[in-house]
Amino acid sequence: MSTQDAHELKLYSPPEAAVKGAHVSGMEAYKKLEAEAEADYQGYWARLAREFLTWKQPFTKVLNESDAPFFKWFEDGKLNVSYNCLDRNVERGLGDKTAIIFETDDGKVSRVSYKELLSRTSQLANALKAQGVKKGDRVVIYMPMSVEGVVAMQACARIGATHSVVFGGFSAQSLRDRIEDAGAVMVITADEQMRGGKALPLKSIVDEALSLGGCDSIRNVIVYQRTGGKVAWNSAHDKWLHEVVASQPATCEPEWVEAEHPLFLLYTSGSTGKPKGVQHATGGYLLHAALTTKWTFDLKDDDVFWCTADIGWVTGHTYITYGPLALGGTEVVFEGIPTYPDAGRFWKMIQDHKVTIFYTAPTAIRSLIKAAETNPAVHPKNYDLSSLRLLGSVGEPINPAAWEWYHQNIGGGRCPIVDTWWQTETGGHMITPLPGATPLVPGSCTLPFPGITAAIVDETGHDVPNGQGGILVVKKPWPSMIRTIWGDPERFKKSYYPPELKGYYLAGDGASRDAERGYFTITGRIDDVLNVSGHRMGTMEIESALVSCTELVAEAAVVGRPDETTGEAICAFVVLKRPRPTGEEARKIAAELRNWVAKEIGPIAKPKDIRFGDNLPKTRSGKIMRRLLRSIAKGEQITQDTSTLENPAILDQLAQTN
Ligand code: PRX
Repeated sequence: MSTQDAHELKLYSPPEAAVKGAHVSGMEAYKKLEAEAEADYQGYWARLAREFLTWKQPFTKVLNESDAPFFKWFEDGKLNVSYNCLDRNVERGLGDKTAIIFETDDGKVSRVSYKELLSRTSQLANALKAQGVKKGDRVVIYMPMSVEGVVAMQACARIGATHSVVFGGFSAQSLRDRIEDAGAVMVITADEQMRGGKALPLKSIVDEALSLGGCDSIRNVIVYQRTGGKVAWNSAHDKWLHEVVASQPATCEPEWVEAEHPLFLLYTSGSTGKPKGVQHATGGYLLHAALTTKWTFDLKDDDVFWCTADIGWVTGHTYITYGPLALGGTEVVFEGIPTYPDAGRFWKMIQDHKVTIFYTAPTAIRSLIKAAETNPAVHPKNYDLSSLRLLGSVGEPINPAAWEWYHQNIGGGRCPIVDTWWQTETGGHMITPLPGATPLVPGSCTLPFPGITAAIVDETGHDVPNGQGGILVVKKPWPSMIRTIWGDPERFKKSYYPPELKGYYLAGDGASRDAERGYFTITGRIDDVLNVSGHRMGTMEIESALVSCTELVAEAAVVGRPDETTGEAICAFVVLKRPRPTGEEARKIAAELRNWVAKEIGPIAKPKDIRFGDNLPKTRSGKIMRRLLRSIAKGEQITQDTSTLENPAILDQLAQTN
């Protein structure tokens, strides 16, 4: 790959091999698509929706803006997602093609063909119907990474049930909250999940969630037997998955749903309140899932695609369960973790399965860099990674040093890296290089996906010139956008369409564009949302969890600080109901509070630092001064004006680590 200096930034032009035969080949092809979308926005998306999806009833209306910002796409069309991902491929002659290469935590490999995936999905779909699940019902999926997890999602889609996958690392309390908010009729789970050689409970967490109350809508719990570990059984509503599917036929007529029918809810954190149920529609979402998989990953028939995300996050939805299958691709699904049995696991799996396209998060890359530096045995140079032709990054900014390492050590200097910026709410890639077209700059997600009107504006919605930072927005609605927040349309409007932004979608990120190329660089969230290892968390959620420990905690404030490995780390400032602890006592209470947060939300929300104070820095009107806390968390000298602070002495106290 050729490199040259563009000011101090390195520029990597797409290598010949990536340009040749690419679905979007060369910058001219990219510009042509952009021009097509600009000239006839609706015509562009309609063309693609007809090309990429099979419609039972073709749409005649493209975009309905009459109730903005509640936009509708392809609203009079009907289709079925699981038909598009499975039956259609079998009908095209791909029945025997491997859809999924599944590898368990302990390295057992199985392959599932499209034909088999279709019959397993149909059987489960029939079983769900037999349990009384109907179109529009919500089904919570709390599953390990598994073929069954993908099948459960596809089976819901097949019968028009709206799934809500909850990441298997969330606590009983978080699971309960999501079940209640969604009003789910069923939970599909597993006895246990295997991660890093350990069996971790799932079913017993479901039991606990249900026992916390508020889950009266649940009629059944379907349990996939993954480990055979012991589980408590409530015969009134618990059923084994293998038993409920055993008597079901392997064919099931898909439920043809309206394009706007809710395909799924996925809960994610915002700056205020409890996690919100991001609602996605069927037609527009699937279009963008398929389209971005094809263009961003340049997916071809003989590729082996591997997205390392969990199906509990949006990346796993779009780039495991839906996008690659909608295109008839072959993908790897992995149950385990990157560091088991050692930190060479990813590289070994790329070698074993001859993975051609690899998509992971910067946090994983950074932690594997560290591992390779400390243990030469797991350095990627020990593995044959020559099958790779394309790499991807998602979830958080990738720092140029990690980018360069990924490019050299994993991509052998020959594989483009697509740094894809998007969100749970956007359904699929929004700003990303296209590997056969876009010259790359490490650390930049480069240019909008063709047809996506991403822009940077100031607080009044006016464009800011390139070279300056501002607020990242999307000017026009796009097919795979969030439709609403489940049960809270007002919150949807308030969060994403604030009146001062002239009807633009507010992403919640800050960004800048460079003066020369207009390339985007994401500078991070501009709200009270943290991004820890690519996991999104609201500071308020963690604060609520801390103060719910009413025995100990009087007050808490949570901020993020930069972290070399996890991107951001959670830092909590806590005022206890007892005198401020120091030394060993402080460490003991901090450990207790960390476990408390893990129990309330999940281990991913555990604060890395907990500092204790007699009180928190507040203005005279009682507002916590978070910007000061952010500086303290970073270990910075306070240079800001502290004259409005009621109790300036507190700053020194909070600066002390335990
Ligand atoms: O801050 C941005 C960051 O992750 C947020 C979205 O998180 P979530 O909804 O959990 O979805 C993650 C997977 C798509 C964004 O608001 N983010 C995501 N991708 C990038 C990123 N930040 C910088 N560069 C990226 N490529």
